[in-house]
Amino acid sequence: MRICSAPGKMILFGEHAVVFGKPALAMAIDLRVTASLRVSDQYSVNGYPMNARHHAYISAALDEAWNGPPVSIITKSEIPSGSGLGSSAAVTVSAVGALLAERGQFDGESVARKAFEVEYAVQGRASPTDTSVSTHGNGVLVCPDRMDGFLWRIEKGSQHWNVHHCEVRKLTFVVGFTGVHAPTGPLVQKVKDFVESNPEGRRAVDRIGEIVLDGVDALAQADKPRLGSLMRENHSLLCTLGVGHTSIDRLVESCGDKSYGAKLTGAGGGGSMIALTDDPKGVSEAISGAGGTPIVVTVGGRGAVVEQ
Ligand code: MEV
Repeated sequence: MRICSAPGKMILFGEHAVVFGKPALAMAIDLRVTASLRVSDQYSVNGYPMNARHHAYISAALDEAWNGPPVSIITKSEIPSGSGLGSSAAVTVSAVGALLAERGQFDGESVARKAFEVEYAVQGRASPTDTSVSTHGNGVLVCPDRMDGFLWRIEKGSQHWNVHHCEVRKLTFVVGFTGVHAPTGPLVQKVKDFVESNPEGRRAVDRIGEIVLDGVDALAQADKPRLGSLMRENHSLLCTLGVGHTSIDRLVESCGDKSYGAKLTGAGGGGSMIALTDDPKGVSEAISGAGGTPIVVTVGGRGAVVEQ
């Protein structure tokens, strides 16, 4: 039996724009997926015969990282699926990690590369943000240029992303899950169509790129008011890109006076929002009162770990 676990993530700044090669800043959260693998007489996932449509990420992970005998894989997740908190990336990273560990080839960079290929294949378009932060843990800054803290460079077609370790400060974030499950692939496609057909979309993507770099600076100084104001601006640009949702806006507005700032996190279209606050209890109550599920998260924990 081989067991690998990997964390979910929250994107502080830069989702969607990063798919166009702009920077993004993401942090691991303390909700994890565990993949347990054993060699078997047929391929199965969670007790069912493997089906490439129903088990798209695991099936693609096997194509990418396995050439041995059939295996049975069981996944256990603490992350709501389609919540914007990186559940598919964590499933992918934990499965790829377990497969590579079984082959005696587990290392962070290989896991991150293969997990990115899996997400790209399943979603049709992706950046390496979610899979890299789930692999590395801590925080990661993804950007076009190579900077201090460089981890790995990932290329796809004409695009490239440099992935860096980013120090995570002790800040308190509350996640608010709307309960609306939104798959990432169609949202990424919707933004692509908008950006390619509307100059306002291109301007929003460019401005989000600037916000991320300002955000890195504000994070290094733990400047909460500045982080909050950048989060608010990033949120409104994501709405311009068409990935906002009334359920998200309700939660973002509910914690306005109790947080430094709030924004949707991840692909949007529902999913989750995050608020930066010194009053996690007040923000959690506000999110519950607005119909969401609050989760006080600890950010910056361990990445992918071979447990056994
Ligand atoms: C989804 O968590 C983040 C997106 O930027 C997609 C991606 O980076 O692959 C929307």
